[in-house]
Amino acid sequence: MSDSVQVYEVGPRDGLQNEARAIATADKVALVDQLTDCGFSAIEVTSFVSPKWVPQLADAADVMAAINRRPGTRYACLTPNMRGFEGAKAAKADEVAIFAAASEGFSQKNINCSIEESFARFAPIIEAAKPLGLPVRGYLSCVIACPYDGAIAPEQVADVAGRLLDMGCYQVSLGDTIGAGTPETTADMLRAVIERVPAERLAGHFHETGGRALANIEASLDFGLRVFDTSIGGLGGCPYAPGAQGNVASEAVATRLEALGLTTGLDLERLAAVAQFSKTLRG
Ligand code: HMG
Ligand code: MG
Repeated sequence: MSDSVQVYEVGPRDGLQNEARAIATADKVALVDQLTDCGFSAIEVTSFVSPKWVPQLADAADVMAAINRRPGTRYACLTPNMRGFEGAKAAKADEVAIFAAASEGFSQKNINCSIEESFARFAPIIEAAKPLGLPVRGYLSCVIACPYDGAIAPEQVADVAGRLLDMGCYQVSLGDTIGAGTPETTADMLRAVIERVPAERLAGHFHETGGRALANIEASLDFGLRVFDTSIGGLGGCPYAPGAQGNVASEAVATRLEALGLTTGLDLERLAAVAQFSKTLRG
């Protein structure tokens, strides 16, 4: 198994989407540009979602138009439906992400439809992305527990993750949306998912509510996962998951991975400086 780990930066999207205070477009662009300089191979920049649902990211097209792109970094956007996909395509996103849930309660609250209906919305996105050669990432929320439905069975997670893979996602990112996981429940979940989706097609997406995200990443490394979503400065949460805090902080993950002898390709000093800048954006 490889000793190189991809740290997938989602702070500008997953982090900022949760900030109630209006953040200037120029500050969002500055954040993305500074993250590019840290050496990330992928940065999730924004979402093409309804501005009524996530007002903070209503400037998605403006942010995408203003960032400085560096070869070697992919700039990604969240797309819940074809309208979002068209926006991301026009904005020249390098990859798009669809987002499903392992629980019915979260699917309804987050995207206003059932899990089944969400797959019907995602199918045309996959079809439209294919001829363009645009990679589609699949998120799966509430892989441990749901703020509305409680604990989620690992078999249910495996089933929906498998469907995302089968429909054409190049990778499935497993979201512990409310930071409920422990190394033990993370291992139980991964044991079931890996029966359905190979480790090399999985990413871990841990929020920090329980303070166990780093331990959950280490548990995931044991299962062969080598991609982890993180948020600079630990920004964020999810506006439709009450109590969810930010993603595990990029700088903490990079530091821990390097200490474990794994390589991330990231500049740790720059990361620390950008983490400081990210904190000035918080309300
Ligand atoms: P809906 O109300 O069921 O859909 O929302 P609709 O088709 O009836 O549209 C409602 C309005 O939104 C209409 O406008 C549409 O035109 C507009 P109106 O006619 O009322 O003026 N609209 C759009 N506008 C811009 N871009 C679009 C778009 N689509 C419709 N793409 C919808 C359904 C999916 C749109 C809505 O529920 C939504 O936008 N949800 C997004 C919620 C969200 O972004 N949540 C956070 C991201 S997920 C997350 O954080 C979890 C993750 O990090 C993993 C983890 O941690 O677990 C990924
Ligand atoms: Mg998230």
